[in-house]
Amino acid sequence: MSEKATLNLGNKTYELPVVTGTENEKAIDISKLRDQTSYITLDSGFKNTGCTKSAITFLDGEQGLLKYRGYAIEDLAEKSTFIEVAYLLIYGNLPTQAETDNFKLQISKHTLLHEDMKKFYDAFPPKAHPMGQLCSLVSSLSAFSPESLNPNPSKEDIDLGIIKLIAKMPTIVSWIYKGSLGEPFIYPKSQLDYVANFMNMTFGQVTEEIGIDPVVVNALDKLLILHADHEQNCSTSTVRIVGSSGCNLPASISAGISALWGPLHGGANQAVIEMLELIKNDGGDTEKWINKAKDKNDPFLLMGFGHRVYKNFDPRANIIKKACDKILDKLGINDPILEIAKKLEDAALNDPYFVERKLYPNVDFYSGIIYRALGFPTDMFTVLFALGRLPGWIAQWKEMRENKEPIGRPRQVYVGEVNKQFIPIADRV
Ligand code: CMC
Repeated sequence: MSEKATLNLGNKTYELPVVTGTENEKAIDISKLRDQTSYITLDSGFKNTGCTKSAITFLDGEQGLLKYRGYAIEDLAEKSTFIEVAYLLIYGNLPTQAETDNFKLQISKHTLLHEDMKKFYDAFPPKAHPMGQLCSLVSSLSAFSPESLNPNPSKEDIDLGIIKLIAKMPTIVSWIYKGSLGEPFIYPKSQLDYVANFMNMTFGQVTEEIGIDPVVVNALDKLLILHADHEQNCSTSTVRIVGSSGCNLPASISAGISALWGPLHGGANQAVIEMLELIKNDGGDTEKWINKAKDKNDPFLLMGFGHRVYKNFDPRANIIKKACDKILDKLGINDPILEIAKKLEDAALNDPYFVERKLYPNVDFYSGIIYRALGFPTDMFTVLFALGRLPGWIAQWKEMRENKEPIGRPRQVYVGEVNKQFIPIADRV
């Protein structure tokens, strides 16, 4: 017999269906609750609300597990490439060699931006934040792809839109960086792989003789894999909810980029480095800053610590921490903020405030140190997170459409004034 939950309201009893996921996660289906009872559920921040059934990513916060389409993140980070992972997330299976080659070929055909898009870059002030530029530039892609505006696109148009977005994103991102320096744009090279092409457009490292340092390319590829999806977080839910109105793919992704920008979400990677710099410049007294983070009257938070779902450790942080040591070592970089980061982590992990609240380093705690070692300025870090998250957002947008999910429209409990008498302006005091 299928499991049911029982709800007692006043003198009535209601039965609610229980849904069980393939990893044995349980949910009480309240979708008919209001029709049956006139009640809604209240859950600020959706801390306990499932908004969809999804077959893309599974994470278990207690066990520190993260899987894309059933594959462990540790295996993917170690043995796969970002392009394979993008294909896996979007199309559901690890691509064969032929599928990989074709996917790469299609991407390489669409890496150029329309020349008119350069005018947007010219219009931004030199200090414009890269994330603000990224939202605008990605949304503007819809203007250059009229087929993306059809609210009922064919499968071919959807696939083309996906390829175009994945292909153009590295060009958009690296040109933001070049624009911030006032340097000429470097055009994509179709013979290079995805990440190598991105690094070349950003730093111009390719020469016929030496190519691009594989240590650098592999480090960035790994980081992109670790960021590629993370189920229903703030930006992903935004992409799904915006897309549920029938909004086109570039505009839905642009909304996700805006959601990612905040320091509590993807913006944390920038905030972590700024915090570590602040602590270093303040003399490196980590205990003082731990105490500030614990003080409820002080707005300071230990950036890069805590997670809505992970309550024992963030598996991405574990992988990144190891990668970080390796990369700094290989590149021969001795970054003093790494020492501060390690001291802060040790202190926080032994402090009852952090232990009781299950606050552990998250993905953003060490990623910024790697981005910095690779040569990216701090305000580009969240843009790199967006570059990595793109396939996840696309996969979630596509799944939402394929599931024919209804337009997202939460309810509320109104707590404002009732039935106030209108007063003409002349009589108001
Ligand atoms: N420093 C100090 N105290 C914290 C922190 C922190 N970083 N994070 C949470 N707390 C405290 C919080 O004040 C609360 O204390 P109390 O129970 O006494 O009121 C308790 O821990 C529970 O926190 P919460 O805010 O209810 O937890 P949440 O699930 O709503 O928020 C979070 C999760 C990630 C937004 C939060 O931990 C945070 O702001 N962390 C710092 C920002 C950060 O690193 N964000 C990146 C998240 S991972 C990347 C991504 O995917 O977005």
